[in-house]
Amino acid sequence: ATTLGAQAAASGRYFGTAVAAGRLGDSTYATILDREFNMITPENEMKWDTTEPSRGSFNFSPADQIVNHAQAHGQRMRGHTLVWHNQLPSWVGSITDANTLRSVMDNHITTEMTHFKGKIYAWDVVNEAFADGSTQHRGSVFQNVLGNGFIEEAFRTARAADPSAKLCYNDYNIENWSDAKTQGVYAMVRDFKSRGVPIDCVGFQSHFGSGGPPASFPTTLSNFTALGVDVQLTELDIAQAPTTAYSNTVKACVNVSRCAGITVWGIRDSDSWRSGDNPLLFDGGGNKKPAYDAVLSAL
Ligand code: XIL
Repeated sequence: ATTLGAQAAASGRYFGTAVAAGRLGDSTYATILDREFNMITPENEMKWDTTEPSRGSFNFSPADQIVNHAQAHGQRMRGHTLVWHNQLPSWVGSITDANTLRSVMDNHITTEMTHFKGKIYAWDVVNEAFADGSTQHRGSVFQNVLGNGFIEEAFRTARAADPSAKLCYNDYNIENWSDAKTQGVYAMVRDFKSRGVPIDCVGFQSHFGSGGPPASFPTTLSNFTALGVDVQLTELDIAQAPTTAYSNTVKACVNVSRCAGITVWGIRDSDSWRSGDNPLLFDGGGNKKPAYDAVLSAL
């Protein structure tokens, strides 16, 4: 096939990108989006600060724009993200009572998932809950007020809200098998599967330096899938976009049957949150970079 999405689809996978609602009117951007990608993650529009800026007051308009675009162009959607310590409005961060925070968190999950019910392939239910260099959760209002059980609470609530959506745990720096953080997330998934806590997938953000993924990335992916979950590469970008680093990353997914797909975190370098690193597959003019060809061949 001659596009990323079609080539990924030939092995039952998807190839996606992060999309910003504000760029949909840029015709170069939209042309590449609709030619190459068959999965979309809203870059910011489904985060708590946008969707529930004050308690009980929901705004889904920016995300709806993206979902409408996806539906009009036959693209599937990843939902990103329901429970995260960043881009969280200050009214949530200042809650100190556990019953209040539990009901606020559950209501946020239920209301957002219900709004998009039936339109989301997979949700990043909880994002970045583990601390770097540790097997433990990081501090956050959720961890500090609700304790370790907040992740399980979020996943159980999410399953009830939209039983047909895949439920993912998503994080960065969990690609190297020997890292403590990887082991912490692995132990959580193993525990959830053994106790019947609903979880379907683990998202590996894959924000890499120019060396690309650690050598153990294929091992990490297959060890997670052996627990009975899918894995997905959810936010891929690589500093300077070396062809070898991109190719190694794509092969790590393609070699694991339960690696469901790959999402890059933006279209052109100029769209990237790391634009100084030129980490994506298209240059600022929308031209394919060498990394594009490396990815297409590796898929
Ligand atoms: C980033 C967006 O790309 C930026 O536009 C925003 O200013 C900050 O968030 N991990 C995640 C993503 O899960 O949501 C983040 O996206 C990048 C790191």
